[in-house]
Amino acid sequence: MGGPKVISRTATAAAAHGAVVARCSWGVLVLLLLSAVGTVQCLHSSATPAGLSEDFYAESCPEVFDIVAAGVALGTLTDIRLPASLLRVNFHDCWIGGCDASLSLDNTTTIFSEKFAAPNNNSIRGFNVLDAIKATLETVCPQTVSCADIVTIAARDSVALAGGQGWPVVLGRRDSLTSHFNQSASNGPDGLPSPFVNLSTTIANFAFRNFSATEMVTLSGSHTFGRARCAVVTPRFTNTKPFLLNDTNVIDPKLKAQLLKHCANASDPNLVINNLDQTTPNTFDNKYYTNLVKELGVLHTDQNLFSAQGANTGLVKLYGQKQNLFFSAFAEGMIKMQNLGPLTGTQGQIRLQCGKVNPSSSWTSSAESLLAVE
Ligand code: HEM
Repeated sequence: MGGPKVISRTATAAAAHGAVVARCSWGVLVLLLLSAVGTVQCLHSSATPAGLSEDFYAESCPEVFDIVAAGVALGTLTDIRLPASLLRVNFHDCWIGGCDASLSLDNTTTIFSEKFAAPNNNSIRGFNVLDAIKATLETVCPQTVSCADIVTIAARDSVALAGGQGWPVVLGRRDSLTSHFNQSASNGPDGLPSPFVNLSTTIANFAFRNFSATEMVTLSGSHTFGRARCAVVTPRFTNTKPFLLNDTNVIDPKLKAQLLKHCANASDPNLVINNLDQTTPNTFDNKYYTNLVKELGVLHTDQNLFSAQGANTGLVKLYGQKQNLFFSAFAEGMIKMQNLGPLTGTQGQIRLQCGKVNPSSSWTSSAESLLAVE
């Protein structure tokens, strides 16, 4: 299988990787204004953080893009859900303490892995593939490419491989020395967004990182592929969560019956899963939005975007009509998300294995201490 179509900002990189991404152009802006969705604003990717660049590994590891793309494509041959899972890893990594691969760390006596915080436990996946990509990179360019950058490239390639549009990635992130378990487990706006809350709570979660409601609706388009456990789907029907008691959300009755039936026999609601997109479950497209218009949202928070009071109904409809508009806005949103709080320079380290902080005696740590005193 060939690598996914990758999209880059610079002429050189564009020649190497394919087409050019549509930025937040006047055309996009005009469309958004014409759509009469009220509070719509054009998405602007945040400025590139100092120390990151597209050609960061041009000398030290020019193979990095091909190796990550091949790893994602190979993994997807036997796991069609993988691209969705890798995109979610990127989101949950960046949302908590910045894009520093803290989510990749496993439990030790001193590290409480984020993988076991409630939003991730029993559901976050794809680390076997990320670890395999890292192992290949350690053979080809030892002690050079961070796990945080691998996660970043893998998410972009995943979207492109599943049929979406890529975007330019800047690189040079370094890996954290610890995990951020407490923040991952937080129920507040500093934590990961919950599927059981009202629209304003979801908006507040994104506002905490300076993402607008528009950007929230756009990035939620990620639920156009992937799966959700019964554990996060059925509570909206059974009112077992107090905050859902006032749920006035609508859902297509056939879909409700189907989800309830599918989940009814689950001896463990963590093990039985449902497609997030009822139309094209493995493709990155705009069907998520057309589904919401038809009241086919699987998560309570998904349907909220169209049905709740104060919802961005017009934007949902617009994205459902104009896939290209969704794709370019999504690319902008992902660039902004991937720019969250990177470690650069001598901060953190380049891990040798993504699941572990380097032993303090390793070459990397010694070299970094020398660099630090210069
Ligand atoms: C708007 C607030 C969001 C909420 C409440 C939310 C919640 C969830 C939940 C509950 C699941 C199912 C996982 C499980 O079974 O436990 C899920 C899956 C997923 N989420 Fe989100 N999410 C949100 C935003 C995002 C964003 C911004 C992205 C990416 C940029 C994203 C990407 C995904 C993907 C791709 C999956 C499927 C993963 C797989 O199949 O392995 N989500 N999300």
